[in-house]
Amino acid sequence: MTGDHYFTAEPATPAQPREVEFSVAGRDYTLASAAGVFSAARLDPGTAVLLRKADLPARDATGPFLDIGCGFGPITCVLASSAPAATVWAVDVNQRARDLTAANAASVGAADRVQVAAPDDVPADLTFAEIWSNPPIHIGKAELHELLRRWLPRLAPAGVAWLVVARHLGGDSLHRWLVEQGWHVERHASQKGYRVLRVTR
Ligand SMILES: C[S@@+](CC[C@H](N)C(=O)[O-])C[C@H]1O[C@@H](n2cnc3c(N)ncnc32)[C@H](O)[C@@H]1O
Repeated sequence: MTGDHYFTAEPATPAQPREVEFSVAGRDYTLASAAGVFSAARLDPGTAVLLRKADLPARDATGPFLDIGCGFGPITCVLASSAPAATVWAVDVNQRARDLTAANAASVGAADRVQVAAPDDVPADLTFAEIWSNPPIHIGKAELHELLRRWLPRLAPAGVAWLVVARHLGGDSLHRWLVEQGWHVERHASQKGYRVLRVTR
């Protein structure tokens, strides 16, 4: 036992490298993963619902896009592959997750367009055409709200944010909270107990 959480900054757990395979929109992905990052052994079912149900960016979209809490990078890699000219910012507090996302971006041929960063290293003046997240619910409600208060205002005026949250982990109360904060929120899809929320200004 090391006491590591998937959102630990520097996981002490030995990495135990492994691969995660999945398909999105007819494209197959084999990404590197490791112990000490979120859902290291398989594509998280919530992330799978998000990538299946949300509207992936158009092929000619340029972004920039933001993936909040990139983990080993499945969302980032799908965004970068779906929009081959787009820049994607992949942000995580976990160094191992950032390293894996950088390696996986290179393996899908997007090393030059994926910017992997710790939260404080994202340029303050950057706004995003799309924000995507399977957010870290387990950090606690107040911290989650703080995270969303920090990043959602970085949405460009006509931008769209796509979030997935399990209903039993508070998907519907998060929906209500976002509305209270003044966002337009649509429950775009609901599958396997997950809510896919589409958030706009
Ligand atoms: C539910 S996981 C999703 C990971 C990945 N996007 C996926 O779909 O497999 C949430 C991620 O958020 C990260 N995280 C936790 N707190 C964060 C914060 N304050 N800022 C950015 N990322 C954070 C965790 O380290 C974790 O990788």
